[in-house]
Amino acid sequence: MVTQMKTLDDYKNAYKASVENPEQFWADQADKFVWKKRWDKVLKWDFKGPDVRWFDGGKLNITENCLDRHVEVRGDKTALIWVGNEPDAPNKTYTYKELFLKVNKFANALKAQGVKKGDRVVFYMPMIPELMIGMLACARIGAIHSIVFAGFSAQSLADRIIDAEAKVVICSDYNRRGAKNIPVKTVVDEALALGCKTIEKVIVYKSTGGDMVWNPDMDVDYCKIMDGVAEFCEPEAMESEDPLFILYTSGSTGKPKGVVHTTAGYMVFAAYTFKNVFQYQENDIYWCTADIGWVTGHSYIVYGPLLEGATTMMFEGVPSYPDAGRFWDIIEKNKVTQFYTAPTAIRALMAEGDEFVEKYDLSSLKVLGTVGEPINEEAWMWYFEKVGKRAKPIVDTWWQTETGGILITPLPLITDMRPTFASYPLPGVQPILVDPAGNLITENGVEGLLCIKFPWPGILRTTWGDHVRCRQTYFSAFPDLYFTGDGARRDEDGRYRIIGRVDDVLNVSGHRIGTAEVENAINMAPGVVESAVVGFPHDIKGQGIYAFVIAQGSVDNIDELKKSIINSVRVEIGPIAKPDIIQIVPGLPKTRSGKIMRRILRKIASGDMSNIGDISTLLNPEVVEEIKKNAPTL
Ligand code: WTA
Repeated sequence: MVTQMKTLDDYKNAYKASVENPEQFWADQADKFVWKKRWDKVLKWDFKGPDVRWFDGGKLNITENCLDRHVEVRGDKTALIWVGNEPDAPNKTYTYKELFLKVNKFANALKAQGVKKGDRVVFYMPMIPELMIGMLACARIGAIHSIVFAGFSAQSLADRIIDAEAKVVICSDYNRRGAKNIPVKTVVDEALALGCKTIEKVIVYKSTGGDMVWNPDMDVDYCKIMDGVAEFCEPEAMESEDPLFILYTSGSTGKPKGVVHTTAGYMVFAAYTFKNVFQYQENDIYWCTADIGWVTGHSYIVYGPLLEGATTMMFEGVPSYPDAGRFWDIIEKNKVTQFYTAPTAIRALMAEGDEFVEKYDLSSLKVLGTVGEPINEEAWMWYFEKVGKRAKPIVDTWWQTETGGILITPLPLITDMRPTFASYPLPGVQPILVDPAGNLITENGVEGLLCIKFPWPGILRTTWGDHVRCRQTYFSAFPDLYFTGDGARRDEDGRYRIIGRVDDVLNVSGHRIGTAEVENAINMAPGVVESAVVGFPHDIKGQGIYAFVIAQGSVDNIDELKKSIINSVRVEIGPIAKPDIIQIVPGLPKTRSGKIMRRILRKIASGDMSNIGDISTLLNPEVVEEIKKNAPTL
């Protein structure tokens, strides 16, 4: 049985085996892990419910597989290298033994604070080791972690805390990012004031020592509760299908939903995909630049690498600080072997000029990866030529918060590469294309809606507190299929190219943002009647946010109005959702049934005014001319 594919034949054989006998295939992958009780049945599934169960009847703890298992064989190996924001600050490193000890102690500290199996713990933290330690400590005791990206606003944080009915928030005092020092604890205090009634404690890690308001009834010092606790915490025996974490993500309608991943399937899938996609070898230094607040950080900074006994790196800062050479400097200094980042970062660094990347010795690199959004050919070529010196394979990995791990990707030096193509499905993944009526598209050289027809171990199980929403969002568009929300093209050889979302979800700098969320925030600004938000092509961000806004009465001061719109988005969601362009319009093009015709707005936003299409069926066709006339030239 092959756990790490090395050749094209390995891939073909593994793929065939995974389709012909998926249960045997995944049982073979699961065998190497420590189980407290072996599973009864590898897979039970039904996409109608949906009801998907992997390794049903098994009992395990994921941290035993991330830590205890390695302490015996590679206890002194570096598990985590932490690189701080300041370029001259020394790294912090943790061996597997040291990480094991910290996690066990913090697990005991959490227990002493009353956290129990099944409780939800929300993290609002910068990229510091205590975040990783905290997540693993939750998993150790069976508490469900829900990490909220520390760039979200107090309102967004509150929404997530309330939806998850979380008992504890864990945060830092401040967040150093580049030249900024952002007050994190203050945001948590603001969120709690918005009605998070279930929160009993706020555990604060004083990472910078800066001033903050301290509420003695509620606030607890991270370091103090670690004092004197026992050094071993018995790992909780979790059922295979017990939730491991909730991660909120944007959809086309309503508030973000809490995607739920469970223990065993997620574990097996994160480990298998990590090992194969990055071809990790025992002494490699692996670095993923994502924030742990997104799924990429969960699966490919924390769980995947630690499950495989890897050395994983975590970076506190930003790619532009102190200058655009920071990533390359870190790679040189730490002899990074696998580097995994987002197209938006590549484009931003590319725009700063080649001299930054050319200054550094990047010869340690073996594999380059991208994730989160489509990579355009120019950025792909720059990455290949300037970073990889035309010698290193690029893995353009396609996946989603809901998929738990990578589904479609080249395998480095195993399958071929075609720029902008995520290429072939991994073993266990059965993608298909359908047309809008749900008919299967069997030919190659065509575009369609990307669906998956068979469960893989990392598939989401539900959306927190609302299973019907999970069914409606992912399993109802086409019967018996998981619908991804993405459009894709399949080339003559069966490679997939992901074109982008076909629903009302934007992908701005690799961040998922729902148009409905942004519209809701804009509509809350004083003086706004209605708005419509669409994406438009943006050189660096991939997609920018274009807002068409109807104002109340005549507007005296457009700049003031725009400012208050931007402020409302900051407050309701966070700076990442700020519109790039705001156009005040007299009306929005609507169908006779009152639906906004976003197709027309998308055309206008992309600057493509010539080919708007038929507008005669609109309720108010005259408004289109009006909007076109006043659209800013990009
Ligand atoms: C997009 C991130 C093109 C896609 C792991 C998907 C991509 C959404 C790629 C999920 C890629 C992700 N090429 N598009 N390699 N990877 N996407 O949930 O539209 O933050 O549906 O998960 O990002 O974003 P999410």
